[in-house]
Amino acid sequence: MCGIVGYVGPKQAYDYLIEGLFRLEYRGYDSAGVALQQAGQIDVRKKTGRVSQLAELVKVQPVTGNAGIGHTRWATHGEPSDANSHPHVGGNGEVVLVHNGVIENYALLRDKLTELGYVFRSATDTEVAAHLIAHQLEEETKLGSDPTLAETCIQAVEKAIKKIKGTYGLAILFRDVPGLLVAARLGSPLVVGIGKGEYYLASDASPLVGHTEEVVYLNDHEIAVITADQFQLRHQNGGSNAKHIKVLEQAAVDTDLGEFEHYMLKEIFEQPTSIENALRGRLDDDEATAVFGGLNMDPQKLRCIDRIVLTACGTSWHSALVGEYLIEEFARIPVEVEYASELRYRNPPMTDRTMVFAITQSGETADTLAAMRECKRKGHPTLAICNTVGSTIAREADGGIYLHAGPEIGVASTKAFTSQVTVLTLLALFMGRMRNLSYPAGKRIISHLREMPDKIRQTLKCYDAVKEVARKYYTAENFLYMGRLYNFPVALEGALKLKEISYIHAEGYPAAEMKHGPIALIDEDTPSVFIAPRCGIYPKVMSNLQEVKARRGPVIAIACEGDDKIADLADDVIYVPDVDEYLQPLVTSIPLQLLSYEIAILRGCNVDRPRNLAKSVTVE
Ligand code: G6P
Repeated sequence: MCGIVGYVGPKQAYDYLIEGLFRLEYRGYDSAGVALQQAGQIDVRKKTGRVSQLAELVKVQPVTGNAGIGHTRWATHGEPSDANSHPHVGGNGEVVLVHNGVIENYALLRDKLTELGYVFRSATDTEVAAHLIAHQLEEETKLGSDPTLAETCIQAVEKAIKKIKGTYGLAILFRDVPGLLVAARLGSPLVVGIGKGEYYLASDASPLVGHTEEVVYLNDHEIAVITADQFQLRHQNGGSNAKHIKVLEQAAVDTDLGEFEHYMLKEIFEQPTSIENALRGRLDDDEATAVFGGLNMDPQKLRCIDRIVLTACGTSWHSALVGEYLIEEFARIPVEVEYASELRYRNPPMTDRTMVFAITQSGETADTLAAMRECKRKGHPTLAICNTVGSTIAREADGGIYLHAGPEIGVASTKAFTSQVTVLTLLALFMGRMRNLSYPAGKRIISHLREMPDKIRQTLKCYDAVKEVARKYYTAENFLYMGRLYNFPVALEGALKLKEISYIHAEGYPAAEMKHGPIALIDEDTPSVFIAPRCGIYPKVMSNLQEVKARRGPVIAIACEGDDKIADLADDVIYVPDVDEYLQPLVTSIPLQLLSYEIAILRGCNVDRPRNLAKSVTVE
């Protein structure tokens, strides 16, 4: 979480900083701040709340300077407050920095620095880094062995960060060295944009779009030393590292809301297109299979895979669950779905022929990255299913499949989920056709996949029906979501969407499991959403639905068009088009996205920036 920007060059740094912070706000929006260097001093402006509030503050108290850093915060240590906002000042103002990550040994360092006389003004872990660098700078200056003050500052950073345990992306200014920006990375992403006589810094490439196309992604343990006329990359243990310049592939960020009031709604309605984009160029009619350009694995090796691990967090974890059902059904390969936060510390037995997929919209989720690295370290082929081109996970994976869903700005993931499910269907088809799946079966899947963008268009017509249901139930304080087989992960995802943006307690369950606990929650005020399209066990789902009705629980059913019987049982029905069972998550998830959106609006919640959440979780 947290967004970082930096600039050094001939222009006023603030313009890039504030624009960049707006673009990075999805990483956190508890507070924002900037520091600008000018004429031997560094001016800091920071404020609790959104980037727009910072912009208002700067209008009243302007700042100027050709070198600067900025930050948008998702609070880890210390509540959102002006004092805890970044940038933080070290020593007597000689160091000013912003930080993304968590300094795990901050309490110990804080005690030591306090003993040495450093005064802490915030409750953050970050301030420790500011004072630590200031202290190291003082020590280095006492030694007096280095030729320039700039070099002394850099060495102070090198020595200080070695004392830090945890993760960091740091951007640092030094009061007494005008025009020097130092950045350091361990675990939290940073990218340098190369301009003409100017350099940009950011947590991810989105702020750089429109400013430069040449970028260098920092690796862990690297330090970027940036001035207007040069940029060096060093290893924190000394020595310079080669700069691998990449061309930025991102298009300008599409932030136009068009006819929509919120990004979440816009992104829900983009799904016919995002699914089309996930399929584009990947359907091979002749061979009745899927094709991927970037798996980077030879067919022989792929053919020998005997186990697949899908690892992810949040909504991406739900798409992985759908993936498990798809791959096991079509390819007959055992699949494990692992929470990345667990997998990174667990030691599950994995065969030599286990392939790992990290599934992630952002490509920056700290736990997913760590789980992927752990599997890679053990020698497993490790691939990514990712939306964000150039993200850390996309770069570090051995290969992978991009979603091509376009930027997802709403914090609650919608189109990324359906694109992930689409890509996982393609993967199941591809792996299946390498094994037992017949040519006609492959052809049938392809033709059904081709129909999906239109089916999604039809599904979106349920919006009016959803609005009515939302009006009826938006005051409920608890919801249950139930589905079976392919619709069980959809139930989990529906419940998560509601929790995330409307702050209503919701639980997702496999419908038959309800008897083993959640049935105790059912009463007249607790609506149950049954995801009940036609399927092989439709009568069983109906029995589960009856069990709820028997206890006077209101039932909202998501059912297939033409299913009149269900209308007699459920209190409300939202109809979706009839598709094959394995494709149902793509259509049944959409009314649930719309339902959570509508309920959140009726409850007056901020759907695009829900409280306590961030789009990209770059801390553990
Ligand atoms: C955060 C977001 C979720 C997302 C999860 C995983 O919690 O709010 O919407 O599903 O991170 O993110 P990823 O980018 O790895 O898919």
